[in-house]
Amino acid sequence: MRLSLIFIIIMFVCICKGLTEKQLKKAIEEIDNFHGYVNLELVQKYTYAATNCGCCIEEILEIINEFQNAKNNIKVLA
Ligand code: FES
Repeated sequence: MRLSLIFIIIMFVCICKGLTEKQLKKAIEEIDNFHGYVNLELVQKYTYAATNCGCCIEEILEIINEFQNAKNNIKVLA
């Protein structure tokens, strides 16, 4: 009998609200598409992340900054 184990690593950004990094990045894209910009307040409004203990705020801000930098680099190259 052959057993195979599948390990799935889920990276939570906001443990209080159970928001994963993948879900956050998707939300940031959707917010940006809808509003034309994204900030912490909008992320909090749409995902409820960073609305409890606040431990995740710095990481969320980093991910928002990464998104904005990538977006600006695409604009510069275009
Ligand atoms: S970990 Fe995000 S609000 Fe607590």
